[in-house]
Amino acid sequence: MIHCNRSAFCLLLFVTLLHSVCSDFQTLAHLRANASDKSQSRAVVDLLRRLLGNRSRDFIVSVNRTLSNDTLDVCELRSAKNNKILAVGSTGVAVATGIYNYLKYFCNCHVSWSGDQLNLPRPLPPLTGVLRINTPHRFRYYQNVCTQSYSLVWWDWPRWQREIDWMALNGINLSLAFTGQEVLWQEVYLSLGLNQTELDRFFTGPAFLAWNRMGNLFQWGGPLPQSWHVKQLYLQFKILDRMRSFWMIPVLPAFSGIVPEGITRLFPQANVTKLNPWSHFNCTYSSAYVLDPRDPLFQQIGALFLTKVIKEFGTDHIYNTDTFNEMVPASSDPAYLASISLDPQAIWLMQDQVKALLHGVPLGCMVILDLFAESMPVYSSTNSFYGQPFIWCMLHNFGGNSGLFGTVESINSGPFNAIRFPNSTLVGLGLTPEGIEQNPVIYELMSELAWRKEPVNLSKWVSLYALRRYGSMDENLTAAWQLLFHSVYNCTLLQYKNHNRSPLVHRPSLRMQTDIWYEPTDFYKAWKLLFEAAPGLATLETFRYDLVDVTRQALQLLTTEFYKEIRNAFQAQKLPDLLTAGGVLVYDLLPELDRLLSSNEHFLLGVWLEQAQSQGVDKHEAQLYDIDARNQITLWGPDGEILDYASKEWGGLVEDYYLQRWGLFVNTLVECLDRGRPFKQDVFNQAVFQVEKGFVYNQRKYLSKPLGDTYEVARRTFLKYYPYTLKRLK
Ligand SMILES: *[C@@H]1O[C@H](CO)[C@@H](O)[C@H](O)[C@H]1NC(C)=O
Ligand SMILES: *[C@@H]1O[C@H](CO)[C@@H](O)[C@H](O)[C@H]1NC(C)=O
Ligand SMILES: *[C@@H]1O[C@H](CO)[C@@H](O)[C@H](O)[C@H]1NC(C)=O
Ligand SMILES: *[C@@H]1O[C@H](CO)[C@@H](O)[C@H](O)[C@H]1NC(C)=O
Ligand SMILES: *[C@@H]1O[C@H](CO)[C@@H](O)[C@H](O)[C@H]1NC(C)=O
Ligand SMILES: *[C@@H]1O[C@H](CO)[C@@H](O)[C@H](O)[C@H]1NC(C)=O
Ligand SMILES: *[C@@H]1O[C@H](CO)[C@@H](O)[C@H](O)[C@H]1NC(C)=O
Ligand SMILES: *[C@@H]1O[C@H](CO)[C@@H](O)[C@H](O)[C@H]1NC(C)=O
Ligand SMILES: *[C@@H]1O[C@H](CO)[C@@H](O)[C@H](O)[C@H]1NC(C)=O
Ligand SMILES: *[C@@H]1O[C@H](CO)[C@@H](O)[C@H](O)[C@H]1NC(C)=O
Ligand SMILES: *[C@@H]1O[C@H](CO)[C@@H](O)[C@H](O)[C@H]1NC(C)=O
Ligand SMILES: *[C@@H]1O[C@H](CO)[C@@H](O)[C@H](O)[C@H]1NC(C)=O
Repeated sequence: MIHCNRSAFCLLLFVTLLHSVCSDFQTLAHLRANASDKSQSRAVVDLLRRLLGNRSRDFIVSVNRTLSNDTLDVCELRSAKNNKILAVGSTGVAVATGIYNYLKYFCNCHVSWSGDQLNLPRPLPPLTGVLRINTPHRFRYYQNVCTQSYSLVWWDWPRWQREIDWMALNGINLSLAFTGQEVLWQEVYLSLGLNQTELDRFFTGPAFLAWNRMGNLFQWGGPLPQSWHVKQLYLQFKILDRMRSFWMIPVLPAFSGIVPEGITRLFPQANVTKLNPWSHFNCTYSSAYVLDPRDPLFQQIGALFLTKVIKEFGTDHIYNTDTFNEMVPASSDPAYLASISLDPQAIWLMQDQVKALLHGVPLGCMVILDLFAESMPVYSSTNSFYGQPFIWCMLHNFGGNSGLFGTVESINSGPFNAIRFPNSTLVGLGLTPEGIEQNPVIYELMSELAWRKEPVNLSKWVSLYALRRYGSMDENLTAAWQLLFHSVYNCTLLQYKNHNRSPLVHRPSLRMQTDIWYEPTDFYKAWKLLFEAAPGLATLETFRYDLVDVTRQALQLLTTEFYKEIRNAFQAQKLPDLLTAGGVLVYDLLPELDRLLSSNEHFLLGVWLEQAQSQGVDKHEAQLYDIDARNQITLWGPDGEILDYASKEWGGLVEDYYLQRWGLFVNTLVECLDRGRPFKQDVFNQAVFQVEKGFVYNQRKYLSKPLGDTYEVARRTFLKYYPYTLKRLK
C-alpha cells in the first residue's frame, strides 16, 4: 500500500530488497533445479491436462536443462508425428511459457483471471522448423507483499493451483511465498516466553496481515484463530511443492526487527524502539516495536525464525524482508542501516544515503525490486542502484481497485531502456501489483515482454489480443481494443497512478476529483463497438467480462458527470436540477450498475465474502473473517483510517455501500437547499460514517452466483446512457 504526497519520499519508497544469503547467492548463478528434469516435465503435463483436458495429449513435453548453455530459459517447439507438438525447454517454467506462446500465436487461445478462450484447432496447427522462445532475463518476479492481503488472502488450494499455472504459463520463475508464516512466528515467540494474550494483541486479522508483517498494524481485525494457522501452513506446503515442481523459486519471509510488545517484558534490557503510528492510525493499533539489529537478541530471533522456516518450508535461499513500508526508521544513521543490510528501510533515505546503504552490502547478496518502475524508476537516478542487481517491476495497481488503467507506452519501452542503461545491473522483470484480477491485458503484455528482444507494435499486439481473447477476428473488436489502448490504457501522466480516484468509490463531498487521463470520446466509442458486437459473443466468458468491465467504466465516468451536475446545481441553488441529476444517479444509474455487476461471477461481493467466511471453522470465525473482508475494502481500519483505499466495484457493494452514501449526500444537499442552510462536510461525515460502518457489520448475505442476463442489463444500460455521452460530447 502506498500513500505518498511528498515526491521526494515517493521516489525511494518503491524500492524493496530481496535478500539472499551471500554465499548462496554466488552459487545461485550455477544452481540447478532441485526438481529433476523428469519431474518438471510431469508438472507441465499435469498443468496441460488441467488446462486442455484430453487435448493435452497433443503435446509432448520434455525438460532438458542442457538446452540452455547460458542458464537463460529457453523453449523449442516443433511439429512431431501424429500432428503433435513437441516442446523441449530448459525448465518446467520455460516449457509452459513456450507452449503458452504457441497457444496464443498459433491457436489464438488465451488464459486469464477473467476466463479462458481455449477453442483449440483440431488438429493443432503445424510448425515449420523450430519455434524458439527464450528470455534475456534471469528472473521473472511476481507479487507485491500487499497482494497477499488484497487478493490472495482467502484463496483455497484450487484457486492457488490455478494461479501457479498462470504464473508458469506467463514465465514467472521467482515469486513471493508468504502464506502460513504466522504459525512459525507464533512458535518462535511462544518459545521465548510470550503468552497467547500477547500474541493475540500482535497479529492482525487475515485481511491485514501484509501490514502486520511490515510493522504497520497490530491486533486490528484479530485475533488470529489457531485454525487459521493450521490451514495456512498446509496450504503453504502445497504452494511450495507446486512452485518448485516447475522450478520456480519461492521467496520466503525473514526477520526484520518488528517484535511484539511483550518482548520488552521478557527482555527489558533489549534495545527496542517504539515507532510512531502509521498512516492515519493512532497507537492503539499501530505502534511498532523495533529491535535494534545490533542487539544480540536480533540475531537470536532471526536465527530461531529462519531455522523454523527452513525446517518447515525448505529453502531456495531467497528471502524478502520488508520492514518500514512507509515508516520512518528510528535511525537514519547509515551505519545502523548498513548493519541490517537485509533491511529495506533505506527506502526512506535521500539518495546519497541510499548509496551508503547499498554500498554497505557486498555485491551479489541482494536483489533490489524497483517496484514502480513503469512510472517512477529508481535505477536511473541511482546509477543502477550503485551496482546492485535489480529487477524492473511494473506495479500497475493499488489496493486491488476496479477500473481500467494502463501505462502501455512506458511498459513497452521501460524494460528495454533498463537493459540499455549504461552499465545496467538489470537481472529481471517483475509484476508487483498490490491487487490482481483486474486489467488482464496489461499483465499479459508485461509478462510477454520478458521474452522479447524489442518493444512490440502496440496496435498490432492489441489486435491479436482481441483475436485470441474472443477466438475470432472482428474488425469492430479490433477497433474497440485499439481505442482502449489509445485511451484508458495509455496513461502518461504520473499523478494518475492507478488508484481509482473516481467520485463513485469515494466518500461524497463538494470537492471531489473529477479529472481523468484520457479522452472520454475514444472510450465511449470503444464501448459502443463492444456493445454492438455483443449479440454474437455473449456466450464467451472473456467477452462477457469485458462487456461488464467496459460498461462499468462508462457508468463510472458518467457518475462523475452526474456528480458535477449535482454539485453545480447545489452551488447555483437550483433545486430542480439537483433533484434531476441526483435522482438519475441514485435511483437509476447506480442500481443499474449494481445489476450489471451482479450478473457476472467476476464482480460479486458475495464471492469475496463467501471465500472469507469459508475459512472459518465455526460461526464465530466466519463472522470475524466476514468483517475483516468488508472492512478492508471500505473503511480500512476501525474509523476509516484509510477509507476506500482498496475500493472495488462489485455487485452488492455498489448497492449497499456506494449507493447508500450517494443517497445520503443527495438528500443532505436537497435538505440544505430547501432550508437555506450551508452544507457542512464534517456533519455529513459523521452521518455517512454510520452508513459505512453499518455496511461492515450488517451480516447480510450477498449473491455469490450471478443473477440476471448480462447482455440484457448491458443493453438497457447502453440504450439509456449512451445518449448522455453524446450530449456531453457536444
Ligand atoms: C475428450 O474429452 C471430451 C470432453 O471432455 C470428450 O467429449 C471426448 O470424447 C474426449 N476424447 C477422447 C479421445 O478421449
Ligand atoms: C538433453 O539434450 C542434450 C543435448 O542438448 C542431449 O545430449 C541429451 O540426450 C538430452 N537429454 C535427454 C534426456 O533428452
Ligand atoms: C550454446 O552456445 C553455443 C556457443 O556459444 C552457441 O553456438 C549455441 O547456439 C548455444 N546453444 C543454445 C541452445 O543456446
Ligand atoms: C529462471 O530463469 C532463469 C533464466 O531464464 C534460469 O536460469 C533459472 O534456472 C530459472 N529458475 C529460477 C528459479 O531462477
Ligand atoms: C500474559 O502476560 C501478561 C503480561 O505479563 C499478563 O498480563 C497476562 O495476564 C498474561 N496472559 C495470560 C493468558 O497468561
Ligand atoms: C539502541 O539503538 C539506538 C539506535 O537504534 C542507538 O542509538 C542506541 O545507542 C542503542 N542503545 C543501546 C543501549 O545500545
Ligand atoms: C485510537 O483509535 C481507536 C480505534 O479507533 C479508538 O478506540 C481510540 O479511542 C483511539 N485512541 C486515541 C488515544 O485516540
Ligand atoms: C533439494 O534436494 C535435496 C536433496 O534431495 C534436499 O535435501 C533439499 O531439502 C531440497 N531442497 C529443497 C528446497 O527442497
Ligand atoms: C561503465 O563502467 C565502466 C567500467 O567500470 C566505466 O568506465 C564507465 O564510466 C561506466 N559508464 C557509465 C556511463 O557509468
Ligand atoms: C504497427 O502495426 C500496424 C498494424 O496493426 C501497422 O499499421 C503499423 O504500421 C505498425 N507500426 C509500425 C511502426 O510498424
Ligand atoms: C462493424 O460495425 C459496422 C457498423 O455497425 C457493421 O456494419 C459491420 O458489419 C461490423 N463488422 C462486423 C465484422 O461485424
Ligand atoms: C499514447 O499517447 C502518446 C502521447 O500522449 C502517443 O504518442 C502514443 O502514440 C499513444 N499510444 C497509444 C498506444 O495510443
